[in-house]
Amino acid sequence: MIPEQGVLTSSAIWSQLKELAKGEGSQHLVDLFAGNKDRFNQFSLNDCQILADYSKQRMSSAACELLVNLAEERQLSLWRDALFAGDFVNCTEQRSAKHWLLRDPLAAEVKGQLDAMEGMVSRILGGHWRGVLGDAITDVVNVGVGGSELGPLMAAFALQSVQLNEGQVRPRLHFASSMDGSQISQALQDLNPRTTLVLVSSKSFTTVDTLHNANTARSWLARGLGLAYTDEAMMRCHFIGISAEAERMAEWGIVPVNQLLFWDWVGGRYSLWSAIGLPIALTVGMEGFRELLAGAHDMDTHFRVSSLKENIPVMLALVDVWNINFLDIRTRAVLPYDGRLKHLPAYLEQLEMESNGKSVSRAGESLTYHTCPVIWGEVGPNAQHAFFQLLHQGSQSVASEFLMTARRYNEAVHSCSAQELEAQHALANANCLAQSRLLALGDKALEQDLSLPAYKRYHGNQPSTTLVLDELSPRTLGALLVMYEHKVFVQAVIWGINPFDQWGVEMGKVIATDMLVGLADPDSAEVLDASSLALARHVARKQKSRE
Ligand code: F6P
Repeated sequence: MIPEQGVLTSSAIWSQLKELAKGEGSQHLVDLFAGNKDRFNQFSLNDCQILADYSKQRMSSAACELLVNLAEERQLSLWRDALFAGDFVNCTEQRSAKHWLLRDPLAAEVKGQLDAMEGMVSRILGGHWRGVLGDAITDVVNVGVGGSELGPLMAAFALQSVQLNEGQVRPRLHFASSMDGSQISQALQDLNPRTTLVLVSSKSFTTVDTLHNANTARSWLARGLGLAYTDEAMMRCHFIGISAEAERMAEWGIVPVNQLLFWDWVGGRYSLWSAIGLPIALTVGMEGFRELLAGAHDMDTHFRVSSLKENIPVMLALVDVWNINFLDIRTRAVLPYDGRLKHLPAYLEQLEMESNGKSVSRAGESLTYHTCPVIWGEVGPNAQHAFFQLLHQGSQSVASEFLMTARRYNEAVHSCSAQELEAQHALANANCLAQSRLLALGDKALEQDLSLPAYKRYHGNQPSTTLVLDELSPRTLGALLVMYEHKVFVQAVIWGINPFDQWGVEMGKVIATDMLVGLADPDSAEVLDASSLALARHVARKQKSRE
């Protein structure tokens, strides 16, 4: 049952938090640590091989207590039950959000598609999936965008050093999403059509970006193989479709045996656990993919059974709520100190901002408080040489999220020795800890000479959370990603918004179709504003001058 919720700002706890923040907002992290010797233990949690330390957040025990009370008042436990009961938590589309079911080892509903996926993975990795002219597949191109790319790209990149079973060979993976054709043309330029397999990944199978890239790939294959665009054998040997829309896949030409299906109740940004995760399975093998699902299920269980105070997604969500709504810190930098997590910031940008970038409540009322922070980030050590200046000495508060791995490199990688790489791992971890310490404590961390000129001073008090994975494996990555998914859900419950729709991106698609007409012939276009009309004319003039 969907629980009823009152207006957030009418809550007495909300007002108490506002009051508390007035005093606490000015408190420095140096004092918070000095005043509580047990701070790390009180403000950290450890489960599913993830240690979450939020003791460097500007939050006192009193604030923490009140935030948990707020979550209780918002009936978080009942909302959690509703999510896992398959109730229609996505109210604007009258749908459940059952992505968690994809990770449930006992779920009969999803078994058929996992098995179908397994069959394809074993044929491709075993060299038995053949191109139309009989060659084994060496390259796989994933054509998809948003949730049909970001999760698979991020996880496949993160896990590419996982060992496959004997006799299995990992194909080279390529991703093409941008609608302008630059990525697909780049990806295809060095590939051999005889040994290339294309995955067309699209939940709706109507996304123009994906369909245009897929058409380009299809023409390239037909030309390269000397076959007709509609050749049935080519379609059977070189295309797999992954979608919730079997009919549309078939209409486009995906043969029935090459169709992997998922369900309406899996949102695009929650879909990497479904057949959309095929590129991940091609990277880590099906055993590895099942490990990813198992780690994800570990975190589902943690979220379901832990008390709110012991619950990692809940506490991290409350930290964000505190920063955004009470300390007015509305941006968060995601900083992995493990290069394998390079694509995590982009993945989280979609997961969090497409889910919670909302300003209308479930009841359809405009909100008077802020919701999702602006998420951005970069591999931490590289960001140190780019935007950390702003974090250390800029004019605004930014919350940071550091990620590191405790264990890495027990053997040589490629031609680099384990010893050298271990030293690099230690260096990265030392930098991770040093940066979060400096951000928190400022130059007091080093007891610097306080008479230094202002431009050399570090004021500190920049809040951060540090997430330490025991190691990066399919299992821990699965748990980490689900931690973020549930964190987003908890925040949505507190804010009273629907995290499972994305109406804010729909209008852009419609208006672009109209603009195509405007671009082809600016003066025939239906009333364009002055700027758009002038830009369209400028582009048309420049194109003519090329002819
Ligand atoms: O444009 C937003 C969006 O709808 C995302 O939510 C989704 O992940 C992406 O487009 C791709 O959609 P599809 O998988 O249907 O092609």
